Amino acid sequence: MSERRVGIVGYGVMGRAHAYAYRTAPLIRPSATTFVPVAVSGRDAVRVGAAAASMGVEAMTDWRALVERADVDVVDICTPPGTHSLIAVAAAAAGKDVICEKPLAVTALEAAQALEAVRSAGVRHAVGFNYRRLPALSLMAQLISEGALGEIRLWRGTWLSDEFVDAAIPFDWRFERSMGGTTIADLGSHLVDLALWMVGPIVEVSATSSTFVTSRDSPEGPRMVEVDDASSALLKFAAGAQGTLEVARSAPRRPCDFVVEVNGSRGTAIFSYARLNELWVGYVDEDPRHYGLRRIRVEHPSHPQTAGWWPLGQGVGYDASLVNQAADLAAAWPDGSYEPDFVQGAAVVDVCAAMERSAAERHWIHVAP
Ligand SMILES: NC(=O)c1ccc[n+]([C@@H]2O[C@H](COP(=O)([O-])OP(=O)(O)OC[C@H]3O[C@@H](n4cnc5c(N)ncnc54)[C@H](O)[C@@H]3O)[C@@H](O)[C@H]2O)c1
Repeated sequence: MSERRVGIVGYGVMGRAHAYAYRTAPLIRPSATTFVPVAVSGRDAVRVGAAAASMGVEAMTDWRALVERADVDVVDICTPPGTHSLIAVAAAAAGKDVICEKPLAVTALEAAQALEAVRSAGVRHAVGFNYRRLPALSLMAQLISEGALGEIRLWRGTWLSDEFVDAAIPFDWRFERSMGGTTIADLGSHLVDLALWMVGPIVEVSATSSTFVTSRDSPEGPRMVEVDDASSALLKFAAGAQGTLEVARSAPRRPCDFVVEVNGSRGTAIFSYARLNELWVGYVDEDPRHYGLRRIRVEHPSHPQTAGWWPLGQGVGYDASLVNQAADLAAAWPDGSYEPDFVQGAAVVDVCAAMERSAAERHWIHVAP
Protein backbone atom coordinates (compact mmCIF):
# COMPACT_ATOMS: atom_id res chain seq x y z
CA MET A 1 0.00 0.00 0.00
CA SER A 2 1.35 3.45 -0.87
CA GLU A 3 0.59 6.70 0.91
CA ARG A 4 -0.05 10.12 -0.60
CA ARG A 5 0.56 12.67 2.14
CA VAL A 6 -1.87 15.58 2.12
CA GLY A 7 -1.37 19.11 3.43
CA ILE A 8 -4.70 20.85 3.98
CA VAL A 9 -4.84 24.65 3.68
CA GLY A 10 -7.73 25.94 5.82
CA TYR A 11 -9.35 24.34 8.84
CA GLY A 12 -12.94 25.60 8.48
CA VAL A 13 -15.97 23.58 7.44
CA MET A 14 -14.34 22.08 4.36
CA GLY A 15 -10.90 21.56 5.88
CA ARG A 16 -12.56 19.37 8.51
CA ALA A 17 -14.79 17.70 5.94
CA HIS A 18 -11.83 16.75 3.74
CA ALA A 19 -9.80 15.45 6.71
CA TYR A 20 -12.81 13.34 7.73
CA ALA A 21 -13.11 12.02 4.17
CA TYR A 22 -9.43 11.00 3.92
CA ARG A 23 -9.66 9.18 7.25
CA THR A 24 -12.93 7.44 6.33
CA ALA A 25 -12.32 6.51 2.67
CA PRO A 26 -10.03 3.50 3.44
CA LEU A 27 -12.74 2.10 5.74
CA ILE A 28 -15.37 2.28 2.99
CA ARG A 29 -13.34 1.60 -0.13
CA PRO A 30 -9.85 0.26 0.63
CA SER A 31 -7.41 0.86 -2.22
CA ALA A 32 -3.73 0.40 -3.00
CA THR A 33 -3.13 4.11 -2.46
CA THR A 34 -4.36 6.01 0.58
CA PHE A 35 -4.48 9.74 1.17
CA VAL A 36 -3.11 10.54 4.61
CA PRO A 37 -3.47 14.07 6.01
CA VAL A 38 -0.21 15.18 7.67
CA ALA A 39 -0.61 18.92 8.27
CA VAL A 40 -3.19 21.71 8.24
CA SER A 41 -2.53 25.44 8.02
CA GLY A 42 -4.45 28.47 9.24
CA ARG A 43 -3.67 32.01 10.29
CA ASP A 44 -4.81 31.76 13.92
CA ALA A 45 -2.33 29.60 15.89
CA VAL A 46 -4.77 28.67 18.66
CA ARG A 47 -7.64 27.74 16.37
CA VAL A 48 -5.54 25.88 13.84
CA GLY A 49 -3.85 24.07 16.74
CA ALA A 50 -7.22 22.84 18.02
CA ALA A 51 -8.32 21.82 14.52
CA ALA A 52 -5.04 20.00 13.89
CA ALA A 53 -5.33 18.11 17.18
CA SER A 54 -8.79 16.84 16.23
CA MET A 55 -7.54 15.83 12.78
CA GLY A 56 -4.43 14.17 14.23
CA VAL A 57 -2.07 16.24 12.08
CA GLU A 58 0.54 18.97 12.55
CA ALA A 59 -0.62 22.59 12.79
CA MET A 60 1.05 25.33 10.74
CA THR A 61 0.37 29.06 10.56
CA ASP A 62 1.97 29.67 7.16
CA TRP A 63 0.37 28.02 4.13
CA ARG A 64 3.50 28.75 2.05
CA ALA A 65 5.59 26.65 4.45
CA LEU A 66 2.99 23.85 4.23
CA VAL A 67 3.16 23.91 0.44
CA GLU A 68 6.97 23.63 0.54
CA ARG A 69 7.09 20.66 2.96
CA ALA A 70 9.04 17.71 1.59
CA ASP A 71 6.62 15.28 3.23
CA VAL A 72 3.56 16.76 1.48
CA ASP A 73 2.65 15.17 -1.88
CA VAL A 74 -0.78 16.74 -2.33
CA VAL A 75 -1.96 20.23 -1.37
CA ASP A 76 -5.69 20.42 -0.60
CA ILE A 77 -7.03 23.99 -0.75
CA CYS A 78 -9.98 24.60 1.61
CA THR A 79 -9.80 28.38 1.98
CA PRO A 80 -12.08 31.11 0.55
CA PRO A 81 -12.29 31.18 -3.27
CA GLY A 82 -10.33 34.42 -3.60
CA THR A 83 -7.23 32.64 -2.25
CA HIS A 84 -7.49 29.49 -4.40
CA SER A 85 -5.53 30.57 -7.44
CA LEU A 86 -2.59 32.00 -5.48
CA ILE A 87 -2.24 28.83 -3.40
CA ALA A 88 -2.72 26.53 -6.40
CA VAL A 89 0.01 28.36 -8.34
CA ALA A 90 2.43 28.07 -5.39
CA ALA A 91 1.59 24.39 -4.84
CA ALA A 92 2.11 23.57 -8.52
CA ALA A 93 5.42 25.45 -8.54
CA ALA A 94 6.51 23.30 -5.58
CA GLY A 95 5.67 20.19 -7.63
CA LYS A 96 2.66 19.16 -5.55
CA ASP A 97 -0.56 17.67 -6.88
CA VAL A 98 -3.45 20.01 -6.10
CA ILE A 99 -7.01 19.48 -4.92
CA CYS A 100 -8.97 22.72 -4.83
CA GLU A 101 -12.37 23.34 -3.29
CA LYS A 102 -14.98 24.88 -5.54
CA PRO A 103 -15.16 27.31 -7.20
CA LEU A 104 -11.67 27.00 -8.72
CA ALA A 105 -11.41 30.80 -8.60
CA VAL A 106 -13.46 33.98 -8.36
CA THR A 107 -12.50 35.33 -11.79
CA ALA A 108 -11.89 33.66 -15.14
CA LEU A 109 -8.37 35.15 -15.16
CA GLU A 110 -7.49 33.57 -11.80
CA ALA A 111 -8.91 30.24 -12.95
CA ALA A 112 -6.83 30.40 -16.13
CA GLN A 113 -3.71 31.17 -14.06
CA ALA A 114 -4.34 28.16 -11.80
CA LEU A 115 -4.89 25.91 -14.83
CA GLU A 116 -1.76 27.19 -16.56
CA ALA A 117 0.28 26.60 -13.37
CA VAL A 118 -0.73 22.94 -12.95
CA ARG A 119 -0.32 22.28 -16.66
CA SER A 120 3.14 23.77 -16.94
CA ALA A 121 4.29 22.07 -13.71
CA GLY A 122 2.89 18.74 -14.91
CA VAL A 123 1.14 18.06 -11.59
CA ARG A 124 -2.27 16.42 -11.09
CA HIS A 125 -5.28 18.57 -10.32
CA ALA A 126 -8.84 18.17 -9.09
CA VAL A 127 -11.72 20.45 -8.10
CA GLY A 128 -14.01 19.54 -5.19
CA PHE A 129 -17.34 19.32 -6.95
CA ASN A 130 -18.27 16.56 -4.55
CA TYR A 131 -21.95 16.32 -5.51
CA ARG A 132 -20.93 14.40 -8.64
CA ARG A 133 -20.06 11.62 -6.19
CA LEU A 134 -23.56 11.23 -4.71
CA PRO A 135 -25.09 7.96 -5.95
CA ALA A 136 -28.37 9.51 -7.14
CA LEU A 137 -26.76 12.37 -9.10
CA SER A 138 -24.22 9.95 -10.47
CA LEU A 139 -27.03 7.65 -11.65
CA MET A 140 -28.78 10.64 -13.23
CA ALA A 141 -25.63 11.47 -15.23
CA GLN A 142 -25.24 7.81 -16.16
CA LEU A 143 -28.83 7.54 -17.45
CA ILE A 144 -28.33 10.69 -19.54
CA SER A 145 -25.01 9.55 -21.02
CA GLU A 146 -26.49 6.13 -21.87
CA GLY A 147 -29.36 7.83 -23.72
CA ALA A 148 -32.10 6.49 -21.45
CA LEU A 149 -33.79 9.91 -21.39
CA GLY A 150 -33.30 10.47 -25.13
CA GLU A 151 -32.09 13.80 -26.46
CA ILE A 152 -31.81 16.26 -23.57
CA ARG A 153 -34.04 19.27 -24.16
CA LEU A 154 -34.46 20.97 -20.79
CA TRP A 155 -32.17 21.25 -17.75
CA ARG A 156 -33.30 22.95 -14.55
CA GLY A 157 -31.32 23.66 -11.39
CA THR A 158 -32.34 25.54 -8.24
CA TRP A 159 -30.37 25.97 -5.05
CA LEU A 160 -32.13 27.73 -2.20
CA SER A 161 -30.49 28.52 1.12
CA ASP A 162 -31.32 30.80 4.04
CA GLU A 163 -27.67 31.47 4.88
CA PHE A 164 -27.90 35.29 4.43
CA VAL A 165 -31.53 35.97 5.39
CA ASP A 166 -30.60 37.43 8.79
CA ALA A 167 -29.45 41.03 8.28
CA ALA A 168 -27.58 40.83 11.62
CA ILE A 169 -25.03 38.35 10.22
CA PRO A 170 -21.83 40.42 10.23
CA PHE A 171 -19.67 41.07 7.19
CA ASP A 172 -17.11 38.36 6.44
CA TRP A 173 -15.34 36.96 3.38
CA ARG A 174 -18.56 35.57 1.96
CA PHE A 175 -19.85 39.12 1.34
CA GLU A 176 -16.60 40.28 -0.28
CA ARG A 177 -16.66 39.78 -4.04
CA SER A 178 -12.93 39.28 -4.58
CA MET A 179 -12.63 36.80 -1.69
CA GLY A 180 -15.84 34.78 -1.58
CA GLY A 181 -17.34 35.44 -4.95
CA THR A 182 -21.01 35.82 -5.74
CA THR A 183 -23.91 33.51 -4.93
CA ILE A 184 -23.62 32.50 -8.60
CA ALA A 185 -20.01 31.45 -7.93
CA ASP A 186 -20.72 29.84 -4.56
CA LEU A 187 -23.94 27.85 -5.05
CA GLY A 188 -24.24 28.28 -8.80
CA SER A 189 -20.83 26.74 -9.47
CA HIS A 190 -22.07 23.37 -8.14
CA LEU A 191 -25.14 23.51 -10.40
CA VAL A 192 -23.13 24.67 -13.42
CA ASP A 193 -20.68 21.81 -12.90
CA LEU A 194 -23.57 19.34 -12.83
CA ALA A 195 -25.09 20.93 -15.95
CA LEU A 196 -21.81 20.78 -17.90
CA TRP A 197 -21.24 17.21 -16.74
CA MET A 198 -24.72 16.06 -17.72
CA VAL A 199 -25.56 18.12 -20.80
CA GLY A 200 -22.25 19.52 -22.11
CA PRO A 201 -21.02 23.05 -22.78
CA ILE A 202 -23.18 26.11 -22.08
CA VAL A 203 -22.74 28.68 -24.85
CA GLU A 204 -24.98 31.58 -23.84
CA VAL A 205 -26.54 32.95 -20.65
CA SER A 206 -28.93 35.69 -19.57
CA ALA A 207 -28.99 36.45 -15.85
CA THR A 208 -30.38 38.79 -13.25
CA SER A 209 -29.11 39.34 -9.68
CA SER A 210 -30.33 41.09 -6.52
CA THR A 211 -28.81 42.08 -3.20
CA PHE A 212 -31.47 42.52 -0.52
CA VAL A 213 -29.29 43.28 2.51
CA THR A 214 -26.88 45.85 1.10
CA SER A 215 -24.77 46.61 4.19
CA ARG A 216 -23.56 44.55 7.14
CA ASP A 217 -21.78 45.30 10.39
CA SER A 218 -18.04 44.83 10.67
CA PRO A 219 -15.55 45.74 13.44
CA GLU A 220 -14.72 48.85 11.39
CA GLY A 221 -18.41 49.86 11.06
CA PRO A 222 -21.00 49.12 8.34
CA ARG A 223 -19.62 47.64 5.10
CA MET A 224 -21.28 47.43 1.72
CA VAL A 225 -22.21 43.89 0.65
CA GLU A 226 -20.46 43.25 -2.67
CA VAL A 227 -22.27 40.09 -3.75
CA ASP A 228 -25.74 39.02 -4.85
CA ASP A 229 -28.18 37.43 -2.41
CA ALA A 230 -30.01 35.76 -5.28
CA SER A 231 -29.65 35.26 -9.02
CA SER A 232 -31.54 33.60 -11.84
CA ALA A 233 -30.34 32.70 -15.31
CA LEU A 234 -31.49 31.31 -18.64
CA LEU A 235 -29.02 28.95 -20.32
CA LYS A 236 -28.43 27.74 -23.88
CA PHE A 237 -26.40 24.55 -24.28
CA ALA A 238 -24.18 23.82 -27.30
CA ALA A 239 -26.12 20.59 -27.91
CA GLY A 240 -29.38 22.55 -28.31
CA ALA A 241 -30.93 22.12 -24.87
CA GLN A 242 -32.10 25.10 -22.87
CA GLY A 243 -32.03 25.52 -19.13
CA THR A 244 -32.78 27.63 -16.10
CA LEU A 245 -30.76 28.16 -12.95
CA GLU A 246 -31.82 29.87 -9.73
CA VAL A 247 -29.62 30.36 -6.68
CA ALA A 248 -30.44 32.19 -3.46
CA ARG A 249 -28.92 32.59 -0.03
CA SER A 250 -32.00 34.59 0.99
CA ALA A 251 -34.79 31.99 1.02
CA PRO A 252 -36.17 31.60 4.58
CA ARG A 253 -36.37 28.06 5.91
CA ARG A 254 -34.72 26.61 2.81
CA PRO A 255 -31.48 24.99 4.09
CA CYS A 256 -29.30 23.95 1.18
CA ASP A 257 -32.32 22.79 -0.82
CA PHE A 258 -31.17 21.97 -4.30
CA VAL A 259 -33.06 20.33 -7.10
CA VAL A 260 -31.90 19.25 -10.54
CA GLU A 261 -34.37 18.20 -13.23
CA VAL A 262 -33.70 17.00 -16.75
CA ASN A 263 -36.32 16.48 -19.44
CA GLY A 264 -35.28 14.52 -22.51
CA SER A 265 -37.19 13.40 -25.58
CA ARG A 266 -37.82 9.99 -23.94
CA GLY A 267 -37.93 10.69 -20.24
CA THR A 268 -37.55 12.86 -17.15
CA ALA A 269 -35.26 12.57 -14.13
CA ILE A 270 -35.47 14.65 -10.95
CA PHE A 271 -33.06 14.82 -8.01
CA SER A 272 -33.85 16.68 -4.78
CA TYR A 273 -31.10 17.01 -2.19
CA ALA A 274 -33.60 16.78 0.69
CA ARG A 275 -34.11 13.13 -0.42
CA LEU A 276 -30.59 12.47 -1.59
CA ASN A 277 -30.86 8.68 -1.78
CA GLU A 278 -33.65 8.91 -4.34
CA LEU A 279 -34.05 9.69 -8.03
CA TRP A 280 -37.42 10.18 -9.70
CA VAL A 281 -37.67 8.92 -13.28
CA GLY A 282 -40.36 8.42 -15.89
CA TYR A 283 -40.10 7.20 -19.49
CA VAL A 284 -42.42 7.81 -22.43
CA ASP A 285 -42.30 4.18 -23.54
CA GLU A 286 -43.50 2.74 -20.21
CA ASP A 287 -46.89 1.11 -19.80
CA PRO A 288 -49.28 4.09 -19.84
CA ARG A 289 -50.98 2.73 -16.74
CA HIS A 290 -47.73 3.64 -14.93
CA TYR A 291 -48.00 7.23 -16.20
CA GLY A 292 -46.04 9.55 -13.93
CA LEU A 293 -42.67 9.32 -12.19
CA ARG A 294 -41.18 6.40 -10.26
CA ARG A 295 -38.93 6.75 -7.19
CA ILE A 296 -35.67 4.80 -7.45
CA ARG A 297 -33.87 4.03 -4.19
CA VAL A 298 -30.32 4.73 -5.34
CA GLU A 299 -28.62 2.41 -2.87
CA HIS A 300 -28.48 -0.79 -4.90
CA PRO A 301 -25.03 -2.29 -5.63
CA SER A 302 -25.81 -1.86 -9.35
CA HIS A 303 -25.89 1.92 -8.84
CA PRO A 304 -22.76 4.10 -9.21
CA GLN A 305 -20.95 5.38 -6.10
CA THR A 306 -22.59 2.84 -3.76
CA ALA A 307 -19.58 0.52 -3.39
CA GLY A 308 -18.62 -0.13 0.22
CA TRP A 309 -21.58 1.73 1.73
CA TRP A 310 -24.24 0.49 4.10
CA PRO A 311 -26.78 -2.30 3.57
CA LEU A 312 -29.82 -1.48 1.42
CA GLY A 313 -32.24 0.82 3.15
CA GLN A 314 -29.69 2.64 5.34
CA GLY A 315 -28.85 5.33 2.79
CA VAL A 316 -25.95 7.78 2.82
CA GLY A 317 -25.54 11.50 3.57
CA TYR A 318 -23.52 14.52 2.43
CA ASP A 319 -20.34 13.00 3.84
CA ALA A 320 -20.59 10.10 1.38
CA SER A 321 -20.00 12.53 -1.50
CA LEU A 322 -16.72 13.61 0.12
CA VAL A 323 -15.66 10.10 1.09
CA ASN A 324 -16.38 8.90 -2.46
CA GLN A 325 -14.38 11.87 -3.76
CA ALA A 326 -11.41 10.92 -1.54
CA ALA A 327 -11.71 7.24 -2.54
CA ASP A 328 -11.91 8.11 -6.26
CA LEU A 329 -8.87 10.37 -5.94
CA ALA A 330 -6.93 7.65 -4.13
CA ALA A 331 -7.86 5.18 -6.87
CA ALA A 332 -7.00 7.64 -9.67
CA TRP A 333 -3.76 9.14 -8.41
CA PRO A 334 -0.87 8.87 -8.98
CA ASP A 335 -1.34 6.76 -12.12
CA GLY A 336 -4.73 7.68 -13.56
CA SER A 337 -6.79 10.76 -14.27
CA TYR A 338 -9.56 12.31 -12.21
CA GLU A 339 -12.56 14.44 -13.10
CA PRO A 340 -13.51 17.18 -12.46
CA ASP A 341 -10.07 18.70 -12.86
CA PHE A 342 -8.92 22.30 -13.30
CA VAL A 343 -10.00 22.27 -16.97
CA GLN A 344 -13.56 21.59 -15.89
CA GLY A 345 -13.22 23.91 -12.88
CA ALA A 346 -12.14 26.74 -15.21
CA ALA A 347 -15.06 26.01 -17.57
CA VAL A 348 -17.45 26.42 -14.63
CA VAL A 349 -15.85 29.75 -13.71
CA ASP A 350 -16.27 30.91 -17.33
CA VAL A 351 -20.03 30.22 -17.20
CA CYS A 352 -20.39 31.88 -13.78
CA ALA A 353 -18.43 34.92 -14.99
CA ALA A 354 -20.69 35.17 -18.05
CA MET A 355 -23.77 35.11 -15.77
CA GLU A 356 -22.34 37.85 -13.59
CA ARG A 357 -21.57 39.99 -16.63
CA SER A 358 -25.02 39.35 -18.06
CA ALA A 359 -26.67 40.43 -14.80
CA ALA A 360 -24.53 43.59 -14.67
CA GLU A 361 -25.02 44.53 -18.35
CA ARG A 362 -28.61 43.24 -18.61
CA HIS A 363 -28.32 41.28 -21.85
CA TRP A 364 -27.41 37.80 -23.18
CA ILE A 365 -23.70 36.94 -23.00
CA HIS A 366 -21.75 34.36 -24.98
CA VAL A 367 -19.63 32.18 -22.69
CA ALA A 368 -16.01 32.88 -23.52
CA PRO A 369 -13.55 30.09 -22.69
N1 LIG B 1 -18.00 21.33 -1.66
C1 LIG B 1 -18.80 21.74 -0.71
O1 LIG B 1 -19.78 21.09 -0.36
C2 LIG B 1 -18.48 23.04 0.00
C3 LIG B 1 -19.23 23.45 1.11
C4 LIG B 1 -18.86 24.62 1.76
C5 LIG B 1 -17.80 25.38 1.28
N2 LIG B 1 -17.12 24.96 0.18
C6 LIG B 1 -15.97 25.74 -0.34
O2 LIG B 1 -14.85 25.48 0.53
C7 LIG B 1 -14.04 26.65 0.66
C8 LIG B 1 -13.92 27.01 2.12
O3 LIG B 1 -15.21 27.21 2.66
P1 LIG B 1 -15.54 26.91 4.21
O4 LIG B 1 -17.03 26.81 4.31
O5 LIG B 1 -14.70 25.79 4.69
O6 LIG B 1 -15.06 28.26 4.86
P2 LIG B 1 -14.72 28.56 6.42
O7 LIG B 1 -14.94 30.01 6.63
O8 LIG B 1 -15.41 27.58 7.29
O9 LIG B 1 -13.15 28.24 6.49
C9 LIG B 1 -12.25 29.00 5.72
C10 LIG B 1 -10.84 28.69 6.14
O10 LIG B 1 -9.96 29.53 5.38
C11 LIG B 1 -9.24 30.39 6.28
N3 LIG B 1 -9.15 31.73 5.67
C12 LIG B 1 -10.08 32.68 5.66
N4 LIG B 1 -9.64 33.76 4.97
C13 LIG B 1 -8.40 33.45 4.54
C14 LIG B 1 -7.42 34.14 3.81
N5 LIG B 1 -7.64 35.38 3.36
N6 LIG B 1 -6.25 33.52 3.55
C15 LIG B 1 -6.04 32.27 3.99
N7 LIG B 1 -6.93 31.55 4.71
C16 LIG B 1 -8.10 32.14 4.98
C17 LIG B 1 -10.04 30.41 7.55
O11 LIG B 1 -9.23 30.72 8.66
C18 LIG B 1 -10.55 28.97 7.59
O12 LIG B 1 -9.52 28.10 8.03
C19 LIG B 1 -14.71 27.71 -0.22
O13 LIG B 1 -14.11 27.72 -1.48
C20 LIG B 1 -16.15 27.24 -0.32
O14 LIG B 1 -16.79 27.66 -1.52
C21 LIG B 1 -17.43 23.80 -0.45
